[in-house]
Amino acid sequence: MECLPHKKTIGIWMSDKKSQKLNWKEFIKSCASHGYNLVRLDLDIPLEEQRPINVFLHKLTDVIAAADHGDSKASVIINRVEQYLSNHPNITVIDPLDNVRILLNRYCYYTILQNEPSLYKQGIFTPSFAEFTTNNIEMNIEIMRQRGVKFPVICKPTIAHGSKSAHDMIVIFNEKGLHVCKPPCVVQNFVNHNAVLHKVFLIGDRYHICERPSLKNFYASEDLEPIYYSTGEVCKADSQSTLSILDPHDKADITLTLNEDKIKTIIRILRKRIGLLLAGFDVVIDNMTGSHAVIDINVYPSYDNFPNFFEHLLDSIQEAENRNVNIYNNGDCNGVYGEEFLGHKINGLINVGMDPIKYGVTGMNIN
Ligand SMILES: Nc1ncnc2c1ncn2[C@@H]1O[C@H](COP(=O)(O)OP(=O)(O)OP(=O)(O)O)[C@@H](O)[C@H]1O
Ligand SMILES: [Mg+2]
Repeated sequence: MECLPHKKTIGIWMSDKKSQKLNWKEFIKSCASHGYNLVRLDLDIPLEEQRPINVFLHKLTDVIAAADHGDSKASVIINRVEQYLSNHPNITVIDPLDNVRILLNRYCYYTILQNEPSLYKQGIFTPSFAEFTTNNIEMNIEIMRQRGVKFPVICKPTIAHGSKSAHDMIVIFNEKGLHVCKPPCVVQNFVNHNAVLHKVFLIGDRYHICERPSLKNFYASEDLEPIYYSTGEVCKADSQSTLSILDPHDKADITLTLNEDKIKTIIRILRKRIGLLLAGFDVVIDNMTGSHAVIDINVYPSYDNFPNFFEHLLDSIQEAENRNVNIYNNGDCNGVYGEEFLGHKINGLINVGMDPIKYGVTGMNIN
Protein backbone atom coordinates (compact mmCIF):
# COMPACT_ATOMS: atom_id res chain seq x y z
CA MET A 1 0.00 0.00 0.00
CA GLU A 2 1.41 3.37 -1.05
CA CYS A 3 1.61 5.89 1.83
CA LEU A 4 1.32 9.60 1.21
CA PRO A 5 2.95 11.68 3.96
CA HIS A 6 0.35 14.47 4.21
CA LYS A 7 -2.53 12.09 4.79
CA LYS A 8 -3.78 10.64 8.03
CA THR A 9 -3.28 6.94 8.53
CA ILE A 10 -5.69 4.17 9.46
CA GLY A 11 -3.92 1.13 10.91
CA ILE A 12 -6.02 -1.98 10.46
CA TRP A 13 -5.85 -5.43 12.00
CA MET A 14 -8.01 -8.43 11.28
CA SER A 15 -7.29 -12.17 11.02
CA ASP A 16 -5.76 -13.55 7.80
CA LYS A 17 -9.02 -15.39 7.13
CA LYS A 18 -11.06 -12.18 7.27
CA SER A 19 -8.41 -10.28 5.38
CA GLN A 20 -8.49 -12.73 2.47
CA LYS A 21 -12.16 -11.98 1.94
CA LEU A 22 -11.94 -8.19 2.35
CA ASN A 23 -12.33 -6.10 -0.77
CA TRP A 24 -9.03 -4.24 -0.27
CA LYS A 25 -9.19 -2.50 -3.63
CA GLU A 26 -12.45 -0.71 -2.78
CA PHE A 27 -11.34 -0.05 0.79
CA ILE A 28 -8.07 1.61 -0.29
CA LYS A 29 -9.98 3.65 -2.88
CA SER A 30 -12.47 4.92 -0.28
CA CYS A 31 -9.67 5.65 2.20
CA ALA A 32 -7.85 7.73 -0.41
CA SER A 33 -10.97 9.70 -1.28
CA HIS A 34 -11.47 10.49 2.42
CA GLY A 35 -7.84 11.56 2.86
CA TYR A 36 -6.48 8.46 4.59
CA ASN A 37 -3.65 6.04 4.03
CA LEU A 38 -4.40 2.46 5.01
CA VAL A 39 -1.72 0.28 6.61
CA ARG A 40 -1.98 -3.29 7.83
CA LEU A 41 -0.56 -3.70 11.31
CA ASP A 42 1.50 -6.69 12.35
CA LEU A 43 0.65 -7.49 15.96
CA ASP A 44 3.54 -9.94 16.27
CA ILE A 45 6.03 -7.09 16.41
CA PRO A 46 6.03 -3.91 18.55
CA LEU A 47 3.59 -1.28 17.25
CA GLU A 48 6.07 1.50 18.02
CA GLU A 49 8.29 0.09 15.26
CA GLN A 50 5.50 0.41 12.70
CA ARG A 51 4.09 3.41 10.91
CA PRO A 52 2.41 5.94 13.26
CA ILE A 53 -1.36 5.83 12.97
CA ASN A 54 -4.27 8.18 13.64
CA VAL A 55 -6.98 5.53 13.67
CA PHE A 56 -6.81 1.94 14.92
CA LEU A 57 -9.47 -0.19 13.25
CA HIS A 58 -9.60 -3.80 14.36
CA LYS A 59 -11.51 -7.04 14.60
CA LEU A 60 -9.79 -8.43 17.69
CA THR A 61 -12.78 -10.21 19.23
CA ASP A 62 -11.36 -13.73 18.98
CA VAL A 63 -7.93 -12.64 20.26
CA ILE A 64 -9.44 -10.76 23.22
CA ALA A 65 -11.62 -13.79 24.04
CA ALA A 66 -8.57 -16.10 23.87
CA ALA A 67 -6.48 -13.74 26.02
CA ASP A 68 -9.23 -13.47 28.63
CA HIS A 69 -9.25 -17.28 28.81
CA GLY A 70 -5.58 -17.71 29.46
CA ASP A 71 -4.04 -18.09 25.98
CA SER A 72 -0.55 -16.68 26.51
CA LYS A 73 0.16 -15.73 22.87
CA ALA A 74 -3.15 -13.86 22.66
CA SER A 75 -2.39 -12.14 25.98
CA VAL A 76 0.93 -10.84 24.65
CA ILE A 77 -0.85 -9.37 21.63
CA ILE A 78 -3.64 -7.75 23.65
CA ASN A 79 -1.20 -6.33 26.22
CA ARG A 80 0.89 -4.92 23.38
CA VAL A 81 -2.15 -3.26 21.80
CA GLU A 82 -3.48 -1.89 25.11
CA GLN A 83 -0.08 -0.53 26.11
CA TYR A 84 0.37 1.14 22.73
CA LEU A 85 -3.09 2.71 22.84
CA SER A 86 -2.54 3.97 26.36
CA ASN A 87 0.77 5.54 25.25
CA HIS A 88 -1.05 7.20 22.34
CA PRO A 89 -4.40 8.36 23.74
CA ASN A 90 -5.06 10.60 20.74
CA ILE A 91 -5.48 7.58 18.42
CA THR A 92 -9.13 6.98 17.54
CA VAL A 93 -9.92 3.36 18.37
CA ILE A 94 -12.68 1.53 16.53
CA ASP A 95 -13.77 0.13 18.80
CA PRO A 96 -12.34 0.53 22.34
CA LEU A 97 -11.35 -2.91 23.67
CA ASP A 98 -13.30 -2.57 26.92
CA ASN A 99 -16.51 -1.91 24.99
CA VAL A 100 -15.81 -4.91 22.77
CA ARG A 101 -15.35 -7.09 25.89
CA ILE A 102 -18.98 -6.44 26.91
CA LEU A 103 -20.16 -8.40 23.88
CA LEU A 104 -17.89 -11.40 24.37
CA ASN A 105 -20.09 -12.73 27.14
CA ARG A 106 -23.74 -13.48 26.39
CA TYR A 107 -24.79 -13.40 30.04
CA CYS A 108 -23.26 -9.96 30.32
CA TYR A 109 -24.99 -8.39 27.32
CA TYR A 110 -28.33 -10.07 27.91
CA THR A 111 -28.22 -8.63 31.43
CA ILE A 112 -27.63 -5.13 30.06
CA LEU A 113 -30.67 -5.50 27.81
CA GLN A 114 -32.81 -6.96 30.58
CA ASN A 115 -31.97 -4.05 32.87
CA GLU A 116 -33.28 -1.54 30.36
CA PRO A 117 -36.88 -0.82 31.42
CA SER A 118 -37.57 1.52 28.51
CA LEU A 119 -37.40 -1.43 26.09
CA TYR A 120 -40.33 -3.32 27.62
CA LYS A 121 -42.62 -0.32 27.45
CA GLN A 122 -42.10 -0.23 23.71
CA GLY A 123 -42.78 -3.87 22.94
CA ILE A 124 -39.12 -4.92 22.88
CA PHE A 125 -37.55 -7.55 25.10
CA THR A 126 -34.71 -9.95 25.53
CA PRO A 127 -36.03 -13.47 26.20
CA SER A 128 -35.63 -14.69 29.80
CA PHE A 129 -32.30 -16.41 30.32
CA ALA A 130 -30.20 -18.11 32.97
CA GLU A 131 -26.58 -19.14 33.21
CA PHE A 132 -25.40 -22.65 34.07
CA THR A 133 -21.92 -22.86 35.55
CA THR A 134 -22.15 -26.51 36.64
CA ASN A 135 -23.63 -29.81 35.43
CA ASN A 136 -25.84 -30.14 38.50
CA ILE A 137 -29.22 -30.70 36.83
CA GLU A 138 -31.36 -30.24 39.97
CA MET A 139 -29.63 -26.95 40.64
CA ASN A 140 -29.97 -25.85 37.00
CA ILE A 141 -33.72 -26.60 37.03
CA GLU A 142 -34.00 -24.42 40.14
CA ILE A 143 -31.97 -21.60 38.50
CA MET A 144 -34.31 -21.74 35.48
CA ARG A 145 -37.37 -21.64 37.73
CA GLN A 146 -36.08 -18.63 39.67
CA ARG A 147 -35.33 -16.72 36.49
CA GLY A 148 -38.59 -17.60 34.72
CA VAL A 149 -36.94 -19.61 31.94
CA LYS A 150 -39.33 -22.11 30.38
CA PHE A 151 -39.07 -24.90 27.79
CA PRO A 152 -38.33 -24.94 24.97
CA VAL A 153 -35.00 -23.18 25.49
CA ILE A 154 -31.90 -22.57 23.40
CA CYS A 155 -28.64 -23.42 25.09
CA LYS A 156 -25.76 -21.19 23.91
CA PRO A 157 -22.12 -21.09 25.05
CA THR A 158 -21.66 -18.16 27.45
CA ILE A 159 -18.59 -17.02 25.51
CA ALA A 160 -19.89 -15.73 22.20
CA HIS A 161 -16.55 -15.52 20.34
CA GLY A 162 -13.13 -17.11 20.07
CA SER A 163 -13.98 -20.51 18.64
CA LYS A 164 -16.21 -22.25 16.16
CA SER A 165 -18.01 -23.94 19.06
CA ALA A 166 -19.18 -20.50 20.27
CA HIS A 167 -21.90 -20.89 17.62
CA ASP A 168 -22.95 -24.44 18.56
CA MET A 169 -26.56 -24.20 19.75
CA ILE A 170 -28.99 -26.74 21.22
CA VAL A 171 -32.78 -26.51 21.38
CA ILE A 172 -33.95 -28.35 24.50
CA PHE A 173 -37.58 -29.34 25.05
CA ASN A 174 -37.73 -30.74 28.57
CA GLU A 175 -35.83 -31.32 31.83
CA LYS A 176 -34.55 -34.68 30.57
CA GLY A 177 -32.70 -32.84 27.82
CA LEU A 178 -30.74 -30.58 30.18
CA HIS A 179 -27.89 -33.09 30.55
CA VAL A 180 -26.59 -32.03 27.10
CA CYS A 181 -25.73 -28.51 28.32
CA LYS A 182 -22.00 -27.83 28.54
CA PRO A 183 -21.35 -25.13 31.13
CA PRO A 184 -20.56 -22.29 31.11
CA CYS A 185 -23.64 -21.71 28.97
CA VAL A 186 -26.83 -19.72 28.95
CA VAL A 187 -30.30 -21.13 28.38
CA GLN A 188 -32.79 -18.73 26.88
CA ASN A 189 -36.54 -18.96 26.24
CA PHE A 190 -37.21 -19.96 22.66
CA VAL A 191 -39.36 -17.33 20.92
CA ASN A 192 -41.53 -18.64 18.08
CA HIS A 193 -40.97 -16.32 15.15
CA ASN A 194 -42.05 -18.21 12.00
CA ALA A 195 -38.45 -18.85 10.92
CA VAL A 196 -37.59 -15.25 10.00
CA LEU A 197 -34.54 -13.52 11.46
CA HIS A 198 -33.88 -9.79 11.07
CA LYS A 199 -30.21 -8.81 11.19
CA VAL A 200 -29.43 -5.15 11.81
CA PHE A 201 -25.94 -3.90 10.92
CA LEU A 202 -24.73 -0.62 12.40
CA ILE A 203 -21.97 1.78 11.46
CA GLY A 204 -22.28 4.63 13.94
CA ASP A 205 -25.63 6.25 13.28
CA ARG A 206 -26.21 4.42 9.98
CA TYR A 207 -27.98 1.10 9.82
CA HIS A 208 -29.09 -1.56 7.40
CA ILE A 209 -31.59 -4.34 8.00
CA CYS A 210 -31.68 -7.66 6.20
CA GLU A 211 -33.76 -10.78 6.52
CA ARG A 212 -32.33 -14.26 7.00
CA PRO A 213 -33.73 -17.76 7.43
CA SER A 214 -34.08 -18.90 11.03
CA LEU A 215 -35.49 -21.75 13.10
CA LYS A 216 -39.08 -22.99 12.71
CA ASN A 217 -41.47 -22.79 15.67
CA PHE A 218 -40.95 -25.19 18.56
CA TYR A 219 -43.15 -26.22 21.47
CA ALA A 220 -42.32 -27.78 24.84
CA SER A 221 -42.61 -31.57 24.76
CA GLU A 222 -41.72 -34.42 27.10
CA ASP A 223 -40.82 -36.68 24.16
CA LEU A 224 -38.52 -34.64 21.97
CA GLU A 225 -34.75 -35.10 22.06
CA PRO A 226 -32.49 -32.00 21.98
CA ILE A 227 -31.73 -30.59 18.53
CA TYR A 228 -28.16 -29.50 17.81
CA TYR A 229 -27.31 -26.92 15.14
CA SER A 230 -24.65 -24.41 14.31
CA THR A 231 -25.79 -20.84 13.52
CA GLY A 232 -24.08 -20.85 10.12
CA GLU A 233 -26.00 -23.93 8.92
CA VAL A 234 -29.38 -22.31 9.57
CA CYS A 235 -29.07 -18.53 9.43
CA LYS A 236 -26.77 -17.64 6.51
CA ALA A 237 -28.43 -15.93 3.54
CA ASP A 238 -28.13 -19.11 1.46
CA SER A 239 -28.76 -21.67 4.24
CA GLN A 240 -31.36 -24.29 3.37
CA SER A 241 -31.78 -26.17 6.61
CA THR A 242 -34.82 -28.36 7.16
CA LEU A 243 -34.95 -26.71 10.62
CA SER A 244 -36.18 -23.56 8.82
CA ILE A 245 -39.21 -25.20 7.21
CA LEU A 246 -42.38 -24.38 9.14
CA ASP A 247 -44.58 -27.30 10.18
CA PRO A 248 -47.96 -27.41 8.37
CA HIS A 249 -49.98 -26.25 11.43
CA ASP A 250 -47.76 -23.14 11.73
CA LYS A 251 -48.18 -22.03 8.14
CA ALA A 252 -51.50 -20.21 8.48
CA ASP A 253 -49.93 -17.58 10.71
CA ILE A 254 -49.98 -14.03 9.39
CA THR A 255 -46.75 -12.43 8.22
CA LEU A 256 -45.00 -10.59 11.04
CA THR A 257 -43.90 -7.07 10.17
CA LEU A 258 -40.77 -5.46 11.50
CA ASN A 259 -41.41 -2.14 13.21
CA GLU A 260 -38.59 0.24 12.32
CA ASP A 261 -39.27 2.56 15.25
CA LYS A 262 -38.56 -0.36 17.54
CA ILE A 263 -35.30 -1.02 15.70
CA LYS A 264 -34.29 2.62 16.21
CA THR A 265 -35.11 2.37 19.91
CA ILE A 266 -32.84 -0.67 20.20
CA ILE A 267 -30.04 1.13 18.34
CA ARG A 268 -30.24 4.10 20.71
CA ILE A 269 -30.04 1.86 23.76
CA LEU A 270 -27.11 -0.11 22.39
CA ARG A 271 -25.17 3.02 21.50
CA LYS A 272 -25.73 4.38 24.97
CA ARG A 273 -25.06 1.20 26.94
CA ILE A 274 -22.44 -0.54 24.80
CA GLY A 275 -21.01 2.33 22.76
CA LEU A 276 -19.63 0.56 19.69
CA LEU A 277 -19.31 2.21 16.29
CA LEU A 278 -19.30 -1.17 14.53
CA ALA A 279 -21.98 -3.50 15.83
CA GLY A 280 -24.96 -5.57 14.81
CA PHE A 281 -27.91 -7.26 16.48
CA ASP A 282 -30.46 -9.94 15.70
CA VAL A 283 -34.20 -9.53 16.18
CA VAL A 284 -37.03 -12.06 15.94
CA ILE A 285 -40.71 -11.13 16.15
CA ASP A 286 -42.81 -13.10 18.66
CA ASN A 287 -45.60 -14.64 16.56
CA MET A 288 -48.11 -14.40 19.42
CA THR A 289 -47.55 -10.81 20.56
CA GLY A 290 -45.68 -9.03 17.75
CA SER A 291 -43.09 -7.95 20.35
CA HIS A 292 -39.54 -7.69 19.06
CA ALA A 293 -36.99 -9.92 20.80
CA VAL A 294 -33.29 -9.02 20.70
CA ILE A 295 -31.58 -12.42 20.74
CA ASP A 296 -27.98 -11.52 19.95
CA ILE A 297 -25.58 -8.57 19.67
CA ASN A 298 -22.35 -8.73 17.68
CA VAL A 299 -19.11 -6.79 17.40
CA TYR A 300 -18.01 -5.75 13.87
CA PRO A 301 -20.52 -8.08 12.14
CA SER A 302 -20.39 -9.41 8.57
CA TYR A 303 -22.12 -6.37 6.99
CA ASP A 304 -23.38 -8.56 4.13
CA ASN A 305 -25.06 -6.39 1.51
CA PHE A 306 -24.58 -3.16 3.48
CA PRO A 307 -24.98 -0.56 0.71
CA ASN A 308 -21.85 1.53 0.04
CA PHE A 309 -20.18 -0.03 3.08
CA PHE A 310 -16.75 1.59 2.72
CA GLU A 311 -18.14 5.08 2.15
CA HIS A 312 -20.26 4.87 5.29
CA LEU A 313 -17.38 3.39 7.25
CA LEU A 314 -15.00 6.17 6.24
CA ASP A 315 -17.58 8.90 6.91
CA SER A 316 -18.13 7.44 10.36
CA ILE A 317 -14.41 7.13 11.03
CA GLN A 318 -14.02 10.80 10.17
CA GLU A 319 -16.86 11.71 12.52
CA ALA A 320 -15.31 9.58 15.27
CA GLU A 321 -11.97 11.28 14.73
CA ASN A 322 -13.49 14.75 15.05
CA ARG A 323 -15.26 13.66 18.19
CA ASN A 324 -12.06 12.17 19.60
CA VAL A 325 -10.21 15.44 19.03
CA ASN A 326 -12.91 17.23 21.06
CA ILE A 327 -12.88 14.62 23.82
CA TYR A 328 -9.08 14.67 23.94
CA ASN A 329 -8.92 18.46 24.04
CA ASN A 330 -11.42 18.45 26.90
CA GLY A 331 -9.18 16.13 28.87
CA ASP A 332 -11.40 13.05 28.74
CA CYS A 333 -9.65 10.50 26.61
CA ASN A 334 -11.21 7.14 27.36
CA GLY A 335 -12.57 6.93 23.82
CA VAL A 336 -16.13 6.08 24.87
CA TYR A 337 -18.88 8.16 23.30
CA GLY A 338 -20.13 10.92 25.58
CA GLU A 339 -23.82 11.15 26.48
CA GLU A 340 -24.10 14.68 25.16
CA PHE A 341 -22.79 13.54 21.81
CA LEU A 342 -25.24 10.67 21.73
CA GLY A 343 -28.11 12.85 22.82
CA HIS A 344 -27.46 15.15 19.91
CA LYS A 345 -26.68 12.57 17.32
CA ILE A 346 -29.08 9.72 17.95
CA ASN A 347 -32.00 11.66 16.62
CA GLY A 348 -30.41 11.40 13.20
CA LEU A 349 -30.26 7.63 12.64
CA ILE A 350 -30.07 6.82 8.96
CA ASN A 351 -31.37 3.70 7.26
CA VAL A 352 -28.84 3.38 4.44
CA GLY A 353 -31.01 0.81 2.71
CA MET A 354 -33.53 3.58 2.07
CA ASP A 355 -30.90 5.63 0.26
CA PRO A 356 -32.39 6.77 -3.07
CA ILE A 357 -28.90 6.79 -4.63
CA LYS A 358 -28.16 3.59 -6.54
CA TYR A 359 -26.00 1.22 -4.50
CA GLY A 360 -22.31 1.13 -5.32
CA VAL A 361 -20.27 -1.51 -3.53
CA THR A 362 -22.26 -3.57 -1.03
CA GLY A 363 -20.74 -5.27 2.01
CA MET A 364 -17.04 -5.34 2.83
CA ASN A 365 -16.02 -8.59 1.18
CA ILE A 366 -15.20 -9.64 -2.35
CA ASN A 367 -18.42 -11.12 -3.75
N1 LIG B 1 -34.29 -16.98 21.99
C1 LIG B 1 -34.36 -17.43 20.75
N2 LIG B 1 -35.57 -17.78 20.23
C2 LIG B 1 -35.66 -18.26 18.96
N3 LIG B 1 -34.61 -18.45 18.15
C3 LIG B 1 -33.39 -18.12 18.61
C4 LIG B 1 -33.20 -17.59 19.93
N4 LIG B 1 -31.90 -17.37 20.12
C5 LIG B 1 -31.28 -17.75 18.99
N5 LIG B 1 -32.16 -18.20 18.07
C6 LIG B 1 -31.85 -18.74 16.73
O1 LIG B 1 -30.51 -19.24 16.79
C7 LIG B 1 -29.64 -18.48 15.95
C8 LIG B 1 -28.30 -18.33 16.61
O2 LIG B 1 -28.38 -17.63 17.84
P1 LIG B 1 -27.42 -16.41 18.19
O3 LIG B 1 -27.66 -15.32 17.23
O4 LIG B 1 -27.56 -16.12 19.63
O5 LIG B 1 -26.00 -17.12 17.95
P2 LIG B 1 -24.63 -16.64 17.29
O6 LIG B 1 -23.96 -17.88 16.84
O7 LIG B 1 -23.92 -15.80 18.26
O8 LIG B 1 -25.05 -15.78 16.03
P3 LIG B 1 -24.10 -14.84 15.10
O9 LIG B 1 -23.68 -15.70 13.97
O10 LIG B 1 -25.07 -13.77 14.72
O11 LIG B 1 -22.99 -14.36 15.95
C9 LIG B 1 -30.38 -17.18 15.73
O12 LIG B 1 -29.98 -16.55 14.55
C10 LIG B 1 -31.84 -17.66 15.68
O13 LIG B 1 -32.11 -18.28 14.44
MG1 LIG C 1 -26.77 -14.17 15.87
